[in-house]
Amino acid sequence: MGWSTTMVLAILAILWIGLASASGAPDGEETSRRDVHSLGHPEAVKVVHVDLDLTVHFDRKALEGTAVLRIERQSGAGEQLPLMLDTRGLSIVRAGMRDGNEGAFAETPFDLGPADPVLGSWLTIPIGPATREVRLEYRTSPSAGALQWLEPSLTAGKVHPFLFTQSEAIHARSWIPLQDSPGVRITYSAVIRVPKGLVALMAADDHSSAEEAREGIYRFRMDQPIPSYLIAMAAGDLAFRKIGPRTGVWAEPSVVEKAAYEFADVEGMVDSIQNRYGPYRWGRYDILVLPPSFPFGGMENPKLTFATPTVLAGDRSLVSLIAHELAHSWSGNLVTNATWRDFWLNEGFTTYLERRVVEDLYGVERADMEWVLGLADLREELKDKSPGDQALHVNLDGRDPDEGMNRIPYEKGALFLRTIEKAVGRDRFDDFLRSYFGHFSFRSITTGEFVGYLKAHPIAHDPAFQRIDRNAWLEGPGLPSGYVEPSSKRLEAVDRTAQGWVAGTIPTDQIDAKNWTTHEWIRFLQAMPEKLETDRLTALDRRFDLTDRGNSEIAHQWLLIAIRNQYAPANDRLKKYLTTIGRRKLVLPLYRAMLATPAGRQQAEAIYAGARPGYHPITVDSVDRLLKSAK
Ligand code: BES
Ligand code: ZN
Repeated sequence: MGWSTTMVLAILAILWIGLASASGAPDGEETSRRDVHSLGHPEAVKVVHVDLDLTVHFDRKALEGTAVLRIERQSGAGEQLPLMLDTRGLSIVRAGMRDGNEGAFAETPFDLGPADPVLGSWLTIPIGPATREVRLEYRTSPSAGALQWLEPSLTAGKVHPFLFTQSEAIHARSWIPLQDSPGVRITYSAVIRVPKGLVALMAADDHSSAEEAREGIYRFRMDQPIPSYLIAMAAGDLAFRKIGPRTGVWAEPSVVEKAAYEFADVEGMVDSIQNRYGPYRWGRYDILVLPPSFPFGGMENPKLTFATPTVLAGDRSLVSLIAHELAHSWSGNLVTNATWRDFWLNEGFTTYLERRVVEDLYGVERADMEWVLGLADLREELKDKSPGDQALHVNLDGRDPDEGMNRIPYEKGALFLRTIEKAVGRDRFDDFLRSYFGHFSFRSITTGEFVGYLKAHPIAHDPAFQRIDRNAWLEGPGLPSGYVEPSSKRLEAVDRTAQGWVAGTIPTDQIDAKNWTTHEWIRFLQAMPEKLETDRLTALDRRFDLTDRGNSEIAHQWLLIAIRNQYAPANDRLKKYLTTIGRRKLVLPLYRAMLATPAGRQQAEAIYAGARPGYHPITVDSVDRLLKSAK
């Protein structure tokens, strides 16, 4: 295949040059749609539908089967241009093509490019002028980045194995050969075959028959066009509980009741958003609670949010995470970032909507606390980022897009929108958002397209709006001046208590924490100085049982303090925390804190040796890198 590889490279180069010149001015409407994180070339031949038939092999940690891709040659693209896809670690067994959508597939050669550790390998399939469908027979690698294969011991039930996918940002290509770019939308259908007795779920409509399901055969369809990073699947011992008419929760049987209690408000959350921003377009909204190794808090897979069990605090105090994932049904899933440098369009909008939902359901006090805590996180994050990486419209060329996943797109993005809201008034901003979601429904857009729409909207005539330095928010570092600082009376009171306790004017037994919510505890613990004497920690711990807190966020803050001060009584709890939870945001800062001292490093390495086999590849990758970089 030497000659055809050369040919393909030449074609690539031509396309590359043609498109690279399209990238435009920062604040113009022309920011590039070119996705530097995909080796696919949808501007030549585009995939529009994927039909999967996959068998789940727990013994070999592999998915095996076929993907039939329906394709469309784009107008103006030369007839000799091949179909180009993304893959990472996939073994392609055979490729075939056909002109219509029935009949036999004619076997066709294919070319798998060199493996880039981040992007993977392009898969080039020369196709005929009338080719409509391409069929790929393939299997995944045991180290596929999107897949976590859990031994029964890592589940709640301890009897059955478990599998789940995580495709965002660019991991879909490690389990499906496709054009793995958020700028390409597809519909899909799937047959998933699992061992008898297990349940398979996809973030799609379930069309399985009861008879087939008993045999482990499940059928799914996603009829709304979605980006590839939203394709998701899970298999395990799963049970369902209804919450409301269109909402429910899936989890392992021993977890499902607790989850149904925790998420009881979700039906109301759907109403809250659709009343303001237009109808929920996805039919059902269910939540799948995964085993604790799930590397994220939540993932907005359409119709079926994937969530960490660490939100099950027992008091519904962490459900803003569900508000967040649900809000993605508008910002992200309906209107999608076209490339990963536009990620703030997904996460900034969603964080803004999340806070509005929290305000609707739980009141302005709680929403304000979340704004204040979010801004504090943002300020921390900004401290150790280069000026370029502090921009919302961040340049991620040559990097793993997962590196863009920090608090900046979330909190700076949300604060930018809040700034517009404060300038033009809430009602007019809500009108804007409603029309924005309507206008761009089921489309993937760039930051430039957002700006273009914003500038054409009536709110753009408002002098208060015109005073906002849009370019500083989108392209500049830090926090531009002119935003309204979020504030919370309750957190201010906590700050005073913390200061008083640290200064010694408030004794431990006079800390009035009776009515503190999770948010207030987090604030209190975050307000502690770097160093505290052991007897002071002991006093706090005795009075408030901090080492034994079950709330994952409060425990996290306390363990950070314990590590910084080598507070030995928390060591067992720390070890247990890090070996039972795999959520990256909760474990990474703890390892980082341990690395600050030689003794801590030893402790980190000892704990990690035991914990690593239970972590998801995404968390493993992050912790590996951290341990290596700090050496
Ligand atoms: N879409 C993200 C998760 C994500 C982003 C996965 C980028 C991979 C790459 C999801 O909506 C999210 O933001 N989750 C947060 C929770 C949220 C409440 C801030 C998380 O997992 O921490
Ligand atoms: Zn999100």
